[in-house]
Amino acid sequence: MSTKIRAAITAVGHYVPDKILTNAMLEKMVDTNDEWIRTRTGISERRILENGATSDLAVPAVQNLLKNRGIGADEIDVIIFATVTPDMFFPATACVLQEKIGAKKAWGFDVSAACSGFVYAIALGAQLIEAGTYKKILVVGADKMSSILDYTDRNTCILFGDAGAAVLLEPSSDPNYGIIDHKLYSDGSGGDFLYMKGGGSLNPPSHKTIDDKLHYIYQDGKAVFKVAVVGMADVSEEIMKRNNLTGADVDWLVPHQANLRIIDATANRMGLDKSKVMINIGKYGNTTAATIPLCLSEWWHAGKVKKGQNLVFASFGAGYTWGAVYVKWGF
Ligand code: UT7
Repeated sequence: MSTKIRAAITAVGHYVPDKILTNAMLEKMVDTNDEWIRTRTGISERRILENGATSDLAVPAVQNLLKNRGIGADEIDVIIFATVTPDMFFPATACVLQEKIGAKKAWGFDVSAACSGFVYAIALGAQLIEAGTYKKILVVGADKMSSILDYTDRNTCILFGDAGAAVLLEPSSDPNYGIIDHKLYSDGSGGDFLYMKGGGSLNPPSHKTIDDKLHYIYQDGKAVFKVAVVGMADVSEEIMKRNNLTGADVDWLVPHQANLRIIDATANRMGLDKSKVMINIGKYGNTTAATIPLCLSEWWHAGKVKKGQNLVFASFGAGYTWGAVYVKWGF
């Protein structure tokens, strides 16, 4: 009789660059104001990586994780790297990271699912562990959003920041702990509302694509807000029902940090008090694939995540992509 192998998070790590871009600084760059940004989004400041690429946000995050776990990079089997700001189209940023950290025996690939990149990647990683094929999987979420922002467009430049964070997945020593369930969705009809159209095979780089600002993020904020607020709450409620969880059973909601109002609506639907919600959007803004592992790592380092707690990760992003993951914390 075979016993089910369960994947568990066994280490976390994160990195944010030192440079802070405050709302007051943005007031001098575009027609905006601190009060509007804080009340509409919950953001006060964000971090900016001045030199380097997305892999440089991941390297210190992973080094932090390896130190916490007490293992070397050469023990990692697989790297799954969630990002929409890869260092280059190819090679994959997972391969760039592999070389930079010296993960000699690993293979890896990138996942492009925007703000849901991390929940997609962790669901994939969990299944590679459950299949019994691999034992140490690094799941990274990192984005240098400042590299694709138009700092003359107040609709987008106030929202995003740069960060990298990672978790390690290993077979759980006790199958009652670990990644218990996940539910993922895509809806390609959302592609008209949040995108970066330039640089790919549809619009290869040219003087025209630059003049037309196609290498920057475009977002119809109001349209995305309407579906995100429902989508993130729906999938969170769905994962709770599937696992017979009530609001009282959930210790932490770990939501994607796009807008405080979306986070609040999700927590309300789940019947959760705000004290059970990880929120750091005020300090970092929306760091896309990094938001969820960044929260996890910050809260874990602060000693607030404990063995046996029930965590629900939830996200919504470009694509549209959305999903939720239920984790029973195991260390
Ligand atoms: O993470 C991936 C998924 N993305 C999301 O989940 C984001 C979802 N959307 C949002 O979070 C919100 O829609 C935003 C924060 C992007 C915008 O908030 P909103 O409450 O939906 O504002 P709005 O776009 O409806 O704009 C309201 C007003 C407009 O002025 P009028 O037309 O009412 O005169 C905008 O021009 O606010 C104006 N506005 C601004 N004012 C000051 C838009 N951006 C700014 C700004 N500063 N930065």
